[in-house]
Amino acid sequence: MGLPFRSLTLAAGLVASLSVPGAAQDLLGHGGPVGALALEGARALSGGFDTRAILWDVETGAAHTVTRFHDGNVTAVALFPDGRFATAGQDGRIALWHPGARVPDLATGHGVSAIAALALSPDGARLAAGFWDGTISVLDVASGAVAQAQGHADRVTGLGYLASGDLVSVGSDLRFVRWGPDMTLAARADLPDLPNGLAISNDRVAVVFAEGALRLFSPDGVLLPERFLTDRPLVSVASSSDGVAAGAIDGSVWMLEPAELTERFRIEAAQGPVWALATRGALLLSAGADGAIRRWSARDGTAQGTGNSTARTDFDDGSRGAEVWRACAVCHSLDPEDQSRAGPSLHGIFGQRIATQPGFEYSEALQTLDIVWTPRTVAELFEFGPEAYTPGSRMPEQRIASESDRQALVEFIARASR
Ligand code: HEC
Repeated sequence: MGLPFRSLTLAAGLVASLSVPGAAQDLLGHGGPVGALALEGARALSGGFDTRAILWDVETGAAHTVTRFHDGNVTAVALFPDGRFATAGQDGRIALWHPGARVPDLATGHGVSAIAALALSPDGARLAAGFWDGTISVLDVASGAVAQAQGHADRVTGLGYLASGDLVSVGSDLRFVRWGPDMTLAARADLPDLPNGLAISNDRVAVVFAEGALRLFSPDGVLLPERFLTDRPLVSVASSSDGVAAGAIDGSVWMLEPAELTERFRIEAAQGPVWALATRGALLLSAGADGAIRRWSARDGTAQGTGNSTARTDFDDGSRGAEVWRACAVCHSLDPEDQSRAGPSLHGIFGQRIATQPGFEYSEALQTLDIVWTPRTVAELFEFGPEAYTPGSRMPEQRIASESDRQALVEFIARASR
């Protein structure tokens, strides 16, 4: 895919060891930019350019499930209230999952073009997908039946369901469309500029634009308040009943009051584009080019995460190896009984053949490989990266550049396994 892989950035000692167990954590695990986010209750879902989707426990920062299914970027995600989730990708496919699943419960075939947006109906019965070629398809979640409509003359850039069950879409054809039952045209309006995303806020439609404006529309496309936030393109938007968040290509994020779009705060959330936002209650999540999913207070914009990989490690002995391990603890436990994270427990890994930890369901790709894990092979795994060393692995791409860090890591795993 030609994407730059992120090598693990490891904290220089003190910050990580000061972290309080159980404190709010940023969500670190993707091996490349994150382009899609959803938030529902205690769970967050992210989709990455690394072709993975990750289901997170928001409080602990632990990864619960890593899926690898799409050919190319995971471009849109949705969380069902009952815990299931949906992913969609550059490959034009939609997949439905339950937590812990290794393969989707249901998946559509390759689409004619990439999917840019997903929206779940308020009753959870229908999932709409917007494609780059302007198509909108609506999946009946129970039956798997798909209905398609030519929604826009150009790329669909935003989708959302109103409380009534009507669907709203915006597209690069500069159109706003409201769809009634069976995708009948209910209302249509022209947009003043290129829309880059849409979020439903208290049954009004918040749209972000390339010219840096955020506009609210009535369900029929009548312009309500608008705010010119920046002269840079806005590229992401999210809403909850008490706030609308917008993210720009230069890393700025605004949180606005939902009624009049007055500014609550503005933060610099990232160095590069903020590709995805999600908000609910007092929590705001942002994600972008560096692969980190950052936590902020939706009330005042204070950073809540530590900025480091600090998922709880059970065997922290203060060593450099324990520190390097923190990036792994997001997905791996060292407790032989604990298979609650997205990856297998690595207790006693040395001397074992690949994909043989009891109680963990591996990907097919891993099961066909022929490797015995030793300090040397685990060090090599992160010297060359899982993508090269264990092709097809669900583990996101990551490397540890320093040889002494790799050595410290495997020595720590050996100590913790005794
Ligand atoms: C975002 C989640 C995630 C992170 C972070 C992560 N892993 Fe993994 N890892 C996985 C998953 C998922 C698998 C299983 C892959 C599969 O089934 O294809 C795995 C598999 C492995 C395996 C093979 C296990 C076996 O039984 O064959 C090793 C070894 C491993 N990881 C080590 C590490 C180390 C060391 C780190 C930290 C440097 C790390 N992982 C970071 C998710 C992760």
